[in-house]
Amino acid sequence: TYVVTEVCIKCKYTDCVEVCPVDCFYEGENMLVIHPDECIDCGVCEPECPVEAIKPDTEPNLDKWLEVNAKFSEEWPNLTTKKPAPEDADEMAKQQDKYEKYFS
Ligand code: SF4
Ligand code: F3S
Repeated sequence: TYVVTEVCIKCKYTDCVEVCPVDCFYEGENMLVIHPDECIDCGVCEPECPVEAIKPDTEPNLDKWLEVNAKFSEEWPNLTTKKPAPEDADEMAKQQDKYEKYFS
């Protein structure tokens, strides 16, 4: 599966949802997640994200994000069409420790 990681928080560019052939992105207030049981590992979303928030689960140190994607994809609504990013998305893309501050 592929997972959405910290950089997405407060950026939410949503380019990723447009290309997913199985529509497996789910939207929280501040980030998107991928449903691990629905993702078919096609990889087309990875290069679409302008801030490289999407990673294959073969990369190291993704335990927290695997958990976040699995849990919240069951709770949040599906998102399949692109929507405007937050106005400060480009600024927020540079911030660190967004999970502690803004995750929702
Ligand atoms: Fe969708 Fe493919 Fe990305 Fe999985 S890897 S979330 S199936 S676009
Ligand atoms: Fe997030 Fe990147 Fe998609 S910022 S919403 S994973 S395009």
